[in-house]
Amino acid sequence: MEQLMKDIKHVLVSREELEKRVAEIGRAITEDYRGRDVVLVGILKGAMPFLCDLMRAIDLPLTIDTMCVSSYGSGTVSSGSVNIKKDLDRDIRGKDVIVVEDIIDTGITMAALVPLLKKRGAASVELAICLDKKERRVEDVPVKYVGFAVPDEFIVGYGCDYAEKYRNLPEVCTLKSEVYTRA
Ligand code: IMP
Ligand code: MG
Repeated sequence: MEQLMKDIKHVLVSREELEKRVAEIGRAITEDYRGRDVVLVGILKGAMPFLCDLMRAIDLPLTIDTMCVSSYGSGTVSSGSVNIKKDLDRDIRGKDVIVVEDIIDTGITMAALVPLLKKRGAASVELAICLDKKERRVEDVPVKYVGFAVPDEFIVGYGCDYAEKYRNLPEVCTLKSEVYTRA
């Protein structure tokens, strides 16, 4: 990762820490959802690395689905509106849904999504979110499974992007300020 790491200011969460925490969350979900009909709903594109790791840490006969829901443009400021760009492939009626997401910031996206999934008849809807930018919360959405609390800084890596890049960094990082002004 030599090329990509040139743009990195700090590593906030290492590969080892991610691996350990994802395993813990996987074990917790395995315990909590035994005997239930679980669907992991990954929010594209940011949830991809977390979804891939988390689903393999859960010892249950679950299914996965994906949605693309966004409240962000290509920059770093929330627009406040939520739109569904790609919907679920399958019906979630009667299913125990766990929404899997890379990061929660204002909470606006999840606050809009959870009621929508409940309205579609899911038996339950909970959130599993890798990174939590607590200080920025506007909407009070309960997150059942949280990976790590992160400071109020722009985060990249492990699914999180800046202008669609850096999602493939295996660690959770912040970018050097020159990256933002490079344009
Ligand atoms: P919220 O609706 O404000 O909670 O925003 C959630 C979405 O914004 C996340 O799923 C991310 O895609 C994006 N986002 C929020 N903060 C960051 C960040 O620091 N880096 C990259 N994406 C972010
Ligand atoms: Mg996202």
